[in-house]
Amino acid sequence: MTRTTHFGFKTVSETEKAREVAGVFDSVAERYNLMNDLMSGGMHRLWKRFAVEVSGVRSGNRVLDIAGGTADLSSLFLEQVGSRGEVWLTDINNSMLTIGRDRLLDEGTAVPVAQCDAEKLPFPTNYFDCVSVAFGLRNMTHKDAALKEMLRVLRPGGCVIVLEFSRIWKPLQRLYDLYSFKVLPAMGGFIAKDPDSYRYLAESIRVHPGQEELKQLMQKAGFERVEYFNLAANAVALHRGYKF
Ligand SMILES: C[S@@+](CC[C@H](N)C(=O)[O-])C[C@H]1O[C@@H](n2cnc3c(N)ncnc32)[C@H](O)[C@@H]1O
Repeated sequence: MTRTTHFGFKTVSETEKAREVAGVFDSVAERYNLMNDLMSGGMHRLWKRFAVEVSGVRSGNRVLDIAGGTADLSSLFLEQVGSRGEVWLTDINNSMLTIGRDRLLDEGTAVPVAQCDAEKLPFPTNYFDCVSVAFGLRNMTHKDAALKEMLRVLRPGGCVIVLEFSRIWKPLQRLYDLYSFKVLPAMGGFIAKDPDSYRYLAESIRVHPGQEELKQLMQKAGFERVEYFNLAANAVALHRGYKF
């Protein structure tokens, strides 16, 4: 029997979802950074800095940036780990990864890069001090499998950092819906010539687990001391969990 899942509000087969997600990121890659700045008013940069802060990553650490895309987090982690450390930039999508890799080269840093699916990581068990995934988990077909893989590659004592859209503070819901379903697709149409991908963004946020649900998913995958920090009136949440 064909297994189905969500692609935004649509129910699709699991293979179709992977194809659709690939289509979205192939299409938006070129304008991805500009759109992020415009859509969040630059705030995504602060959320990412906060994520790196909360990760506790220090000089000499090994970090795996999953769904790293255009390398915002990898670039920040590199500042933390210094020349003795190791940061891997990874993503399933070649268009996003190429932009990320080139950006790091332009910044004068060459990091190891791997094109891989978060659900099947090509890394040894107990290797990384920190694993991060920013705005990526939402797009994955089997979030439970991806979280288990993240746990596997972490060393005992290491932590995972999940930065993701979440459930906004209720009084702002209507305004946020208006912004997400009217303004974002219009902006995506104008800037990235692709309103549909930004409609998907809004829909995928609505079907992604909220703060408590994601905490439970992480606990179920085996993470301990899971907690989260709400950002931007709860529109975004940063979850942290440890492997012991
Ligand atoms: C919204 S972008 C986030 C990029 C970057 N982390 C950031 O915060 O700007 C989501 C990324 O998740 C990647 N992605 C989606 N499914 C994935 C999977 N199964 N494994 C790894 N990466 C995946 C996409 O290719 C895309 O680059």
